[in-house]
Amino acid sequence: MKWNVVHNEDEMAKAAAQRIADVIRRETLRKGKVVLGLATGSTPIKVYEELVRMHKEKKVSFENVVTFNLDEYVVDKDQHPGFYNKDISYHGFMDKHLFNHVNIKPENIHVLHGMAEDKDAECRRFEQLIKQEGGIDLQLVGIGENGHLGFCEPNSPLNGRTSEVKLTQQTIDVNRQKFDFAAETALSMGLGTINEAKEILLIANGAKKAPIIGDLASGIAVANSANHAELTLDDPETARTLAQHRKNNPAMLLKYHSNATAIVDEAAAGQMLDRYKQPQPVAR
Ligand code: PGA
Repeated sequence: MKWNVVHNEDEMAKAAAQRIADVIRRETLRKGKVVLGLATGSTPIKVYEELVRMHKEKKVSFENVVTFNLDEYVVDKDQHPGFYNKDISYHGFMDKHLFNHVNIKPENIHVLHGMAEDKDAECRRFEQLIKQEGGIDLQLVGIGENGHLGFCEPNSPLNGRTSEVKLTQQTIDVNRQKFDFAAETALSMGLGTINEAKEILLIANGAKKAPIIGDLASGIAVANSANHAELTLDDPETARTLAQHRKNNPAMLLKYHSNATAIVDEAAAGQMLDRYKQPQPVAR
């Protein structure tokens, strides 16, 4: 896993958008299309702003971009009419921040339908579509303060597929305070689905993310440490410890991915630098 520690949120957004644009250009040249996994939340907003700017300057085209979003809330459509058009839904969020401003084809956009009658069938359809498109070339992910990726909360199965998942009480309460709804479940890619992306780009900014980024870095420090030789997975105690650590911080799966990069600002990297001086994150 590579680390790119930048000064602030603007630099994080620029670096992430640049990487996404590079992959769009490379894969479009190579195979005529590119498959992106996208994320919602406050962290990617500036990344999308930057991509929209690059698109307007004709530096990147979305004509051959296919997208799959990580997750979507499940709400009762009778109780919340029009929910999926509002920007608190992830459908509405993506339209507002990216899709309405670029030349992506509507049929290439895939966001899980939280109101689907048969949620299992909807999740299977989503997985099938990802397969049909040849897999995800680059998956963008934010990280929750508890390490969640998409809505894969701590203790999510590491090989999990797209499914309906229960939100933690913390997430439900945050939504209740912020919005006029309190979904109790969501449809989300599983950690297994995310892990299959050919490249994963994790973005994080702000001091609130410092503890979890510190935790993620500490796992990496363990793996990279001089004691690594003693920490082989053949040792049942070590295997148990690492498995537990990964379960408690789902983002740990990035550590085992062959092409994962975290772009974090200095505030989010705060505890990583303080607590784990060795090894220093590698700035690219
Ligand atoms: P945030 O959420 O970008 O709003 O901090 C990230 C996440 O929960 O994945």
